[in-house]
Amino acid sequence: MGIVFGDEGKGKVVDFFTPRYDVIARFAGGCNAGHTIIFDGKKFVLRSIPSGIFSENKVNIIGNGCVIAPDLFMDEAGELERAGYSLTDRLHISRRAHLILPTHRLLDRAYEQAKGKNKVGTTGKGIGPAYSDKAARVGLRVGDILSGFDEKYKTLKAAHERILHDLHYDYDLKEVEEKWLEGVEYMRRFHLNDTEIEINRMLDGGKNVLAEGAQGTMLDIDHGTYPFVSSSSTTSGGVCTGLGVAPSRIGEVFGIFKAYSTRVGSGPFPVELFDATGDKIRKIGGEYGAVTGRNRRCGWIDLVALRYAVVINGVTQLVMMKSDVLDDFPTIKACTAYILPDGTQTTDMPYDTAGCKPVYTDIKGWQTDITGMRSEAELPAELKDYIAFIEKALGRPVKIVSVGPDREATIMR
Ligand code: IMP
Repeated sequence: MGIVFGDEGKGKVVDFFTPRYDVIARFAGGCNAGHTIIFDGKKFVLRSIPSGIFSENKVNIIGNGCVIAPDLFMDEAGELERAGYSLTDRLHISRRAHLILPTHRLLDRAYEQAKGKNKVGTTGKGIGPAYSDKAARVGLRVGDILSGFDEKYKTLKAAHERILHDLHYDYDLKEVEEKWLEGVEYMRRFHLNDTEIEINRMLDGGKNVLAEGAQGTMLDIDHGTYPFVSSSSTTSGGVCTGLGVAPSRIGEVFGIFKAYSTRVGSGPFPVELFDATGDKIRKIGGEYGAVTGRNRRCGWIDLVALRYAVVINGVTQLVMMKSDVLDDFPTIKACTAYILPDGTQTTDMPYDTAGCKPVYTDIKGWQTDITGMRSEAELPAELKDYIAFIEKALGRPVKIVSVGPDREATIMR
């Protein structure tokens, strides 16, 4: 799982680990995610479909904790099918997952507009309104596609239109609704089943399941920087509820983070750099949103947030991504504590990080191109020192270091 603000490179890590697993399962989020995978000179951005889809003989599951927009799902699946990947046998979707209606997307935008300068900066994909309806027990589920769909859809759509009307939000539903209904039909060709039973049977039969997180710990509805969060449980606890597996079934927890920090959307971000260094990280790291194209906010690594995420998720091993982005920095900074607005210092995640100032430790940069390196032995001493510093601060080993976007640019330690 991503253990900061998302965009850590989970797609690449899942794709890398896929050969060791039988099942790859998404447990939270939906088309707000954009998991990028690059191999053989091709680039794919997955939104709802698990990143194991490129390997033969793997079962890919969209679990009950996810939300699905049928029209966007049809686009995503169609692109993969056109690229030669057959999906219908290998992709199973929980009947308990909730549907994102076109009116959920409109509501997402209308609520954001109404919030003005306090907006969350959502991806505009209808995630929050869909999860709100789930919690309010009025949502439409994938299983509803198979029975009583028309009536349930009309009722929920009418309720949404009343709210949009009250918010004086102008919209034109016709075109997008047509495509959405086409997407609903398209979904019927997939295995729409009780994936929680399926997963538990496979676990009982000795199969290995890799749960693929979406977003990151600091965007978790409970543990993130509320209200500037997404609407699902993005942490390892969400694996249990979002797939229907017991806590005792969870083995290794891979905590994926970048060698520096980024955040998309609004909300406090103590390590944010507003200067040329932040711009340099953004440019070298290509830090522009995979889903929305927005500039990502950039900063140095935040060990306060990471330490918190290690605890909340029960991380057993760490995976450091995009290490090569820092190749050209003479000095790298690591935030080890925050100074709170009242002047006191803390290494614990505060209730509110707004107004917190980072306390940095300087670390010498390696100033070497590491993108061609493929073994631990080749890594520069300064990078090893940086990794050792992080391991000491977090009390967990960094087992994988990514040195480039390609599948091959991955070093196991
Ligand atoms: P929502 O999930 O679209 O409701 O957006 C809520 C917040 O989470 C916004 O700040 C988004 O930018 C952020 N967010 C949602 N999904 C992702 C993601 O996959 N990566 C990074 N940020 C995300």
